[in-house]
Amino acid sequence: MGLPVYRSATFALDTAEEYADVLSGRVAGYTYSRIDNPTVDAFAAAVTALEAPDGGAAGQAFASGMAAISTVLLTLCRSGARVLSQPAMYGGTYSVLHDLLPRYGVHTDVVDTDDETAVRAALTPDTVCIYAETMANPTLAVADLPMLAAVAADAGIPLVVDSTFATPIVCRPRQHGAHLVVHAATKYLGGHSDATGGVVVGDPELVARIRKSRIDLGGAMAPDEAFLLHRGLATLPLRVRRQCATAGELAERLAEHPALRRVDHPGLPTHRHHKRAAELFEPGLFGAIVTLTVPGGRTGAAAFCNRLRLIEVATSLGGTRSKVSPVATTTHRQMDDAALAAADIDPGAVRLSVGLEDPADLLEDLFDALGGKTIS
Ligand SMILES: Cc1ncc(COP(=O)(O)O)c(C=O)c1O
Repeated sequence: MGLPVYRSATFALDTAEEYADVLSGRVAGYTYSRIDNPTVDAFAAAVTALEAPDGGAAGQAFASGMAAISTVLLTLCRSGARVLSQPAMYGGTYSVLHDLLPRYGVHTDVVDTDDETAVRAALTPDTVCIYAETMANPTLAVADLPMLAAVAADAGIPLVVDSTFATPIVCRPRQHGAHLVVHAATKYLGGHSDATGGVVVGDPELVARIRKSRIDLGGAMAPDEAFLLHRGLATLPLRVRRQCATAGELAERLAEHPALRRVDHPGLPTHRHHKRAAELFEPGLFGAIVTLTVPGGRTGAAAFCNRLRLIEVATSLGGTRSKVSPVATTTHRQMDDAALAAADIDPGAVRLSVGLEDPADLLEDLFDALGGKTIS
């Protein structure tokens, strides 16, 4: 059966008393779609079941990945609070942490999250959470989730993990101790680049606080988006497994290419976190993003992207069509050269999101763009 779409902003109640009871939470039901909507709830419940198959978690859906992330951070922070984060992360999140939140007296301490001593030393009494990405955008550094979760638990604060790049098919951060898992559902969960959304799954008490902020801030998911994103979940395992396999194949072939300065993919044995990825991720799955670094910085990255014919030059990732982003001028434009260097991102980095095309066609396009050499 398909998921019904409750395309209504408002819901009529039988009595004024019932209306008040539902709004106050004394009785289950629906009053207004900014507060709750049955289609949106069904999507959030489906992602919650994927992220936390053993139960014990709750989920909330949002209008976008950034609505989810900013609502989580605003829920956890107060004036004077500090967030502890890794250096490389999605540019939009970087902007919230380093531009928006400082205006409200919230500051972020960036630390090498591979170094447990440094992480423990960076904690202060005002630190309200540790924030990480399962696979960092765009370096694909793999977070040491068990270590970060243990440090967070010792400090009595949550570990918040953006697991957009991993999806619950590759890794379930809660099984490694994370307290809150965030997704830009716009990416792999929806999978077709035709709907925007975000979702948070985590400890029910925390998620209840986040729901309250979501209602206050207004970043509700639309029911039509919930329908599309929910439908995308039906093919999530098939898509992600195939995309991971193609990405692994492309990364192996590209790693040998003399025109590239660097190829990052956690499936490559040369990747600095390959062993960690093999321990934390589902067997044989390493995600479907490959980050290529071409010579010539921003200009070189743009020229490489412009030579691609099959692969789209487009924002976003996780869809059926492969896409590239020259990160320093697009997804990570909020970071200056010093911040890029600190995050180990070369201005010539190009993030490749591998889609469902034939791997041979993708290789031909990439090799042509890298120097006109044909592949055997
Ligand atoms: C890792 C990661 N988190 C969050 C987001 C934000 O998601 P959205 O564009 O749905 O707000 C993105 C977007 O590219 C992302 O790559």
